[in-house]
Amino acid sequence: MKKSIFLLFLLFFIAGSQSDAQKENQAQVNQMVIVANHPGPVISKDIYGHFSEHLGACIYGGLWVGTDSKIPNTYGIRNDVLFALREIKVPNLRWPGGCFADTYHWKDGIGPKEKRASIVNTTWGGVTEDNSFGTDEFMKLTELLGCDAYINGNVGSGSVKEMSDWIQYLTSDAISPMTNLRKENGREKPWKVKYFAIGNENWGCGGNMTAEFYTNTMKQYSTFLGNYSGNQLYRVACGPSDYNFEWTETLMKDAGSRSMFQGLSIHYYSIVDGWNYKGSATQFDEREWFETFRLNLQMDNIIKGHSDIMDRYDPEKTKGLVVDEWGNWFNVEPGTNPSFLYQQNTMRDAITAAIHLNIFNQHADRVKAANIAQMVNVLQSVILTKDDKMVLTPTYWVFKMFRIHQEAKLLNLDLKCEDYTFSNKKIPSISASASVDNEGKVHISLANLNPGKQITITCPVIGDTYKKVTGEVLTAPEMNSYNSFEKPETVKPVVFNGFSLKDGILSIVMPSKSVVVLELTK
Ligand code: AHR
Repeated sequence: MKKSIFLLFLLFFIAGSQSDAQKENQAQVNQMVIVANHPGPVISKDIYGHFSEHLGACIYGGLWVGTDSKIPNTYGIRNDVLFALREIKVPNLRWPGGCFADTYHWKDGIGPKEKRASIVNTTWGGVTEDNSFGTDEFMKLTELLGCDAYINGNVGSGSVKEMSDWIQYLTSDAISPMTNLRKENGREKPWKVKYFAIGNENWGCGGNMTAEFYTNTMKQYSTFLGNYSGNQLYRVACGPSDYNFEWTETLMKDAGSRSMFQGLSIHYYSIVDGWNYKGSATQFDEREWFETFRLNLQMDNIIKGHSDIMDRYDPEKTKGLVVDEWGNWFNVEPGTNPSFLYQQNTMRDAITAAIHLNIFNQHADRVKAANIAQMVNVLQSVILTKDDKMVLTPTYWVFKMFRIHQEAKLLNLDLKCEDYTFSNKKIPSISASASVDNEGKVHISLANLNPGKQITITCPVIGDTYKKVTGEVLTAPEMNSYNSFEKPETVKPVVFNGFSLKDGILSIVMPSKSVVVLELTK
């Protein structure tokens, strides 16, 4: 309370100390205050997580090409994609779904390749799933990425025994049939698995359950998910999507105070004109641009709503919110399989990513992990592939720019900015968050949502003194600029010089439709 009164006073003081001309120019006030010496909660690196499903060309072709492929690979995983992903410091990877997870029987995907069952991917297009990418391949991928595994178990069509065996196969070093099976398949030592989800969207594709039924089922499954050989599972209960607060209430009321789960998932997609016509990923007008961001910003209310319920049952915040599916969902690219969810990615998606990541940072006390949907070739991907070619999307670059927030401490940031108005609707023009890392460097990430207006922000940084500022900016000639296989570098970050620092007051000139990250060093 005291801090906000002080910040308010500071804003009035700054406004008051300006000349009349300056005041006149400030019919639109864009001010921000950052308090650098009172860091808040740690921003979990897992907020920057990814999601890979057996869907379209995410796994097959996107990540996995097999050891016999002409495309350069390591143990079957394509090198170009692997190297690019290492650059963004992927902290955790969720697999094998999504809706596919509740159809997946993990024993189909282990052992000699020629003996693995070929099945029908009933969720995504009825294509043949030859199970050549299974548990061992996924764990190898996480090792090569240097990230934690987030495995999504099958509640909808699986069994308690199947799930409990999977955990033993993965993590136990004791003498047991599952440990022996793993060893026969060439892996002597158990892996570590950090996150394990007990079903996916069990209110829908994961079994059409009621909240009460799922809560009881989840408790049964959870009871048999053991911690073996020093591995400590962070069990994620299936949460709701969007504004379904009743689901959260039911789950928290019944199981919230017990150690049945450590995290509660939520899913939220931004779908501009609804499921029947979601709009094109690349051919859109300003209405759709604006509407996308208006929907993206709802993520803040959704998190607040679920957090408020969790706070009542878990005031110590021992359980985390895991936003394990988020992003823009548009129509598939013309001529592609409608079940493969392949969409291009523009400057609009870059700003979407910045908005979401800033919101997650701001909720670092409760949001402990998040996973963009999805990693490669599906929905709001960070990478697109076509045969042996690869393209890094505008969303990729935002993940690269924002990686500096991983495990840094959140800083209090008060932002007062002008509205971006379209057709009588209003949203804030600027999205922002700030953190301080363990070397004392402050990072500020910002996005200007307005496609046609440069915005200057005044920002006193109080509590410490900084001498040097550097920055990067991502912007593009058009709202719908994108990176294609023919022109892969249309949208790419460059050095940013549009700032000044004088007497502890930072002035930032944000180009229209841009994402900026600044680094302040003492
Ligand atoms: O990401 C695509 C699908 O969206 C996932 O499989 C499902 O969980 C969600 O409905």
